Amino acid sequence: MRDDLTIGVVGATGVVGREVLAALYAQDVPAEQVRVFGSERSKGMEVEYGEDSLEVEQATPDAFRGVKLVLLATPAEASRTLAPAAQAAGAWVVDASSAFRGDGNVPMVLPGFNTDVLGAGFTFKGRIVCLPGAVTTAAVHVVEPLRKAFGVARAQVTALMAASSAGVRGVAELEKQTADLLSGREPEPHAFPHRVGFNLVPQVGGFMVNSPWTEEEGGWTLEAARLFSSKGDVPVIAGTAVQVPTFYGHGLTLNVQLKKAGPVEQVRAALKTSGALKVLDVPGERVYPMPMLVTSDPAVHVGRVRAFPQAPEWVTLFASVDNASRGAALNLVEAGLRLAERPA
Ligand SMILES: NC(=O)c1ccc[n+]([C@@H]2O[C@H](COP(=O)([O-])OP(=O)(O)OC[C@H]3O[C@@H](n4cnc5c(N)ncnc54)[C@H](OP(=O)(O)O)[C@@H]3O)[C@@H](O)[C@H]2O)c1
Repeated sequence: MRDDLTIGVVGATGVVGREVLAALYAQDVPAEQVRVFGSERSKGMEVEYGEDSLEVEQATPDAFRGVKLVLLATPAEASRTLAPAAQAAGAWVVDASSAFRGDGNVPMVLPGFNTDVLGAGFTFKGRIVCLPGAVTTAAVHVVEPLRKAFGVARAQVTALMAASSAGVRGVAELEKQTADLLSGREPEPHAFPHRVGFNLVPQVGGFMVNSPWTEEEGGWTLEAARLFSSKGDVPVIAGTAVQVPTFYGHGLTLNVQLKKAGPVEQVRAALKTSGALKVLDVPGERVYPMPMLVTSDPAVHVGRVRAFPQAPEWVTLFASVDNASRGAALNLVEAGLRLAERPA
């Protein structure tokens, strides 16, 4: 990495921001090349960076002078203001929020899938790129090797989403609800539409206007369509998002409709060709993906591969992904460091 590159991590006190700092530290980025930002609330706080601690600066629109790469791990409302401000200051910007996912002028990149979008051969209008969400990250990595080997018409997904998908507030709320319930108190929901402790809530985020789909669910379809459009073959990815009472790591059931049926062994072999996946599939020995196994693993785990003889083109699988790390922070860092290599 260039030693004149200063990286701004915005949202450094959050679930994703902390994982971004861990990933930069793991890549030996010196503390002197990292600046950390948050809202007015966290100004002056210290966040850990390996052995060092960094002081949080307030992310105002003119705070990015001298920062060459800005990694936004902020809510969409904040990203909408901060991304153009960082771009105007001359920085490359990668945004983990949903703010730009529907904007055709902002390229969407998923490292390990279409990283070439970031190479010098591509020109784009601004200096902002956006990332898909964590569920799309996992689903696209699972579908892509199947698309290459068999063709994929659609993937029906049920995503079991950890409380950390709602950030530090979500984690704190599940902790409190669990403690309250174990002490016989009925907690009030704040970060979620209903109590999530010892419950399952088939709603993650708000509903889209005049639509039975939530924004989270609609996001999967939109993001997958944008990402696969570069491959000229767009499987539909759709399904149900369920908030579950776990803290970190999402689980996904996928029912994938292949264009050309293949034996399960070939499906498993195709999954093994992907560098983004780790195949855990020895059910007789109780080996399969689980959120507790995926924490801090950069790979998406996939297993429980099976199909009905009566409908061999439908393959059922289970996957898990570290939502904060693989699902956001690693994508921010990998995309950002690649962008920073582009000519100014
Ligand atoms: N969590 C996940 O699994 C996940 C996965 C994929 C994508 N994402 C996306 O990543 C983003 C961050 O998510 P998160 O889970 O890390 O949320 P979080 O834990 O709530 O953290 C949000 C961070 O943004 C900062 N922030 C809020 N408003 C700001 C403002 N106006 N200016 C500057 N900083 C501001 C907060 O700083 P303060 O401490 O000052 O409030 C905090 O550091 C979101 O857009 C989310 O949709 C999250």
